[in-house]
Amino acid sequence: MKKVNTIALPDLKKARNRRKEETKTILFDMNNEYKTLGNGKTYAVMTYGCQGNEADSEVISGILTNMGYTKAEEPLKADVIILNTCAIRANAEDRIWGVLGQLKGAKREKPDMTICICGCMPQEENATQKFLETYPHVDIVFGTHNINSLPQLIAKKYDSGKKVVEVLSEQGGILEAAPKIRVSKYKAWVNVMFGCDEFCTYCIVPYTRGKERSRAKEDIIKEVEQLVKEGYQEVTLLGQNVNAYGKDRYTDYSFGNLLFDLDKTGIARIRYTTSHPRDFDDLTIRAHAECKSVMPHLHLPVQSGDDEVLRRMNRKYTHAEYMEKVNKLKAARPDIAITTDIIVAFPGETEEQFKHTLDLVDEVKYDGAYTFIFSPREGTPAYSYENTLTEEEKKNRLQTLIDKVNSYYLKGNERFVGTVQPVLVDGPSKNGDDMLCGYTPHNKLCHFKSNNPDLIGKIVNVKITEAFSWFVIGELCD
Ligand code: 5AD
Ligand code: SF4
Repeated sequence: MKKVNTIALPDLKKARNRRKEETKTILFDMNNEYKTLGNGKTYAVMTYGCQGNEADSEVISGILTNMGYTKAEEPLKADVIILNTCAIRANAEDRIWGVLGQLKGAKREKPDMTICICGCMPQEENATQKFLETYPHVDIVFGTHNINSLPQLIAKKYDSGKKVVEVLSEQGGILEAAPKIRVSKYKAWVNVMFGCDEFCTYCIVPYTRGKERSRAKEDIIKEVEQLVKEGYQEVTLLGQNVNAYGKDRYTDYSFGNLLFDLDKTGIARIRYTTSHPRDFDDLTIRAHAECKSVMPHLHLPVQSGDDEVLRRMNRKYTHAEYMEKVNKLKAARPDIAITTDIIVAFPGETEEQFKHTLDLVDEVKYDGAYTFIFSPREGTPAYSYENTLTEEEKKNRLQTLIDKVNSYYLKGNERFVGTVQPVLVDGPSKNGDDMLCGYTPHNKLCHFKSNNPDLIGKIVNVKITEAFSWFVIGELCD
């Protein structure tokens, strides 16, 4: 690999280390020499995976804009293409390999195009090796810890004409004051913390995203206050495990405190993702009951309903403990909509253990669930656990679970028929001409008749008239 500028390569063993050292906060700053590098050139950012990646892509767009690039009308003809990747499951990665194939054609048409790969995949040793050895059209590979290096990496590529690779396997810092081009003018992502220290045995995230590190509460509150001034209606607080917010930074301030403080900023709606049941605490439950802006929806991944499987997943709670939190929350906020993530066919999961997951779904009656077949991730403990299930058995379990979860979707929506719900309007509905759509506080997709584009970005009252499994229909109130 002579034609590569290798600054740093990923190291999964190093990525697992957790040392007691202070988290560095980096204030974004860009050297003047990079501020015109993109003049007259265009960029495109393609984002895959979680909301964390969506938020990172807004920073990447901000940095490229500060370098003089403008957003390309046609992404596949951009001068710089950034592929922000996800490594959570094999099928997420397969999509990326497919897109990379497409980009090969785009680069053939436009040989001076610069293709950059970032996000979680480059943090994996094997993936980065494959980017370098099998995909000659990839120019720059960087990771989750060095988005702020993007200007230098592009300059290095332009100067040398060689590929540039910089993937850091460190615990990670906190980037503040980075420019952002937000996709929406009324809904915003707000990072509250980065990384994960849970080390669920199936999950690659603690390796790709580093240790848990919370932003200073003042920085978060200031960001939300600014969003309110700009007319934003909704913020979604982001972190791999938001309920651990503050643990690495404060002794007397937690995620619940943050919700109470953000409620005072005047933002109309607060959502957050993702929660870990173990760290989901009473103060957060109180915030759901007492803070007007905290929306009555909680995404609380359970992963399995069986105690032995939960133990081997290293989830650190039992079926009963999970239910205790759910019941406490339902007592405090009876109308709460709860959604979840569930993995089936974890190595060694017996039919009996799988049934315990089905039982839990019956107990909680989820408003929605993302369901997955276990996908072995190299570098994680569960990668080497023995799995004796056939592909057919795995698929059957997934289907049984999907059928069970779906049976509750309609009931979850029917309870709103006849009520008036405030809907934050997103735009034209795919459900018919002259219709708009948006989300209710409980995160239900709602379609209603209106052809008034001025309503987009506003919260309007809609009377729900009909419920379906995946959405509700209503009439705009005067
Ligand atoms: N296999 C299958 N599902 C996984 N998830 C995370 N890692 C894996 C894996 N190796 C699921 C979990 C998590 C969601 C984001 O993805 O359910 O909550
Ligand atoms: Fe992965 Fe578990 Fe951390 Fe979620 S809490 S990101 S599933 S290790």
